[in-house]
Amino acid sequence: MPRLFTFALLPALLLSACGGEPEDTRPGQPVAHRRAIFKELLREFEPMGVMLRDNAYDPQRFAAQAEKVKALRDRPWQYFGPDTQYPPSHSKGEVWSKPAEFEAQRQAFLTATDKLLAIAGTEDAKEAEAAFQAVEKSCRDCHQGFKNKY
Ligand code: HEC
Repeated sequence: MPRLFTFALLPALLLSACGGEPEDTRPGQPVAHRRAIFKELLREFEPMGVMLRDNAYDPQRFAAQAEKVKALRDRPWQYFGPDTQYPPSHSKGEVWSKPAEFEAQRQAFLTATDKLLAIAGTEDAKEAEAAFQAVEKSCRDCHQGFKNKY
């Protein structure tokens, strides 16, 4: 019985893994580009949090990841051009209807990452954690107002 159950679930899992989402076929693929950059950003940012959570803070590795975040942090924004809220985008309309607020969140994120870069390499895990959490909060704050949940 448990085995049957597994088989029954498989197609649903495969479907969600592929997303079942429309492809970005617009010229320049702005939605696909910004999503790919955000995913990369998460991929470089997440290991820093894992390190801190696991009590395995390594100043050099933390600093190396912070540099990777720095290399990505300016890249998504150019792909939020006018009229680029179409599937498979998860952006809310507020990105375009409240541009000043969106810009304020972007600036808060840049300020938080500045701080992260400034302390990167510190031997003080608590200091690293505070800076990490401030960046994480800036991601979350922006998503709350400007990104739809999956
Ligand atoms: C100023 C706003 C803002 C900030 C700051 C921000 N994001 Fe986002 N993020 C967005 C928006 C808007 C989308 C939806 C993009 C779309 O689908 O059109 C998004 C999408 C994403 C996605 C989904 C990509 C996908 O698979 O579609 C990930 C992952 C993500 N962001 C991670 C992060 C992380 C990690 C940070 C912080 C280190 C961050 N974001 C900071 C606005 C922001």
